[in-house]
Amino acid sequence: MSLELREVIDADLPIFFEQQLDPDANWMAAFTGKDPADREAFERHWERIRHDPEIVIRTIVVDDQVAGHVSSYIEEGQPEITYWLGRVFWGRGIASRSLRLFLDHVNGARPMRARVAKDNIASLRVLQKCGFMIVGEDHGFANARAADTEEYLLRLEASSSLA
Ligand SMILES: CC(C)(COP(=O)(O)OP(=O)(O)OC[C@H]1O[C@@H](n2cnc3c(N)ncnc32)[C@H](O)[C@@H]1OP(=O)(O)O)[C@@H](O)C(=O)NCCC(=O)NCCS
Repeated sequence: MSLELREVIDADLPIFFEQQLDPDANWMAAFTGKDPADREAFERHWERIRHDPEIVIRTIVVDDQVAGHVSSYIEEGQPEITYWLGRVFWGRGIASRSLRLFLDHVNGARPMRARVAKDNIASLRVLQKCGFMIVGEDHGFANARAADTEEYLLRLEASSSLA
């Protein structure tokens, strides 16, 4: 399996939109936009994040197919990571490999933070394999569940070694 990260191109966006419609993915991620099927909100969001110099986004390409995206943005002055894969790409180690590549690319951005719904076991595992440690807990209203939802706060230090 070949896997690479590259800059986002316009042709990726319709694929990302399809990928963000998946109900199970939304449940896992929990803290999503209000309506994943709102195409205009999606277009506005991507227009904004692709032109924000503080945001680094890469498309994950697996065997010449767009598998998803990974990005870092600044939250309360600190870099934070997020990612999303199309359903058919799950369970093959793609998120773990992609995060490692991405974290190598943004290796000056430490500590790197992440947050994950407590029951998003796959995402929690991916983060921990990449060296993130749980440093706290929080909760908040999750659009995808229309409910208050508990989450873990994680941090990757400059000195963290990969599991
Ligand atoms: C979360 C997500 C990125 C995982 O992608 P993936 O490519 O399937 O992840 P990987 O295959 O690299 O790793 C998943 C790990 O979780 C483990 N896992 C998955 N489901 C599990 C479960 N229910 N219980 C225990 N372990 C589980 C896998 O075994 C694997 O660990 P391993 O390599 O030690 O075997 C993907 O499901 C996704 O995009 N979900 C929707 C969006 C989302 O949740 N984004 C993250 C927001 S914080």
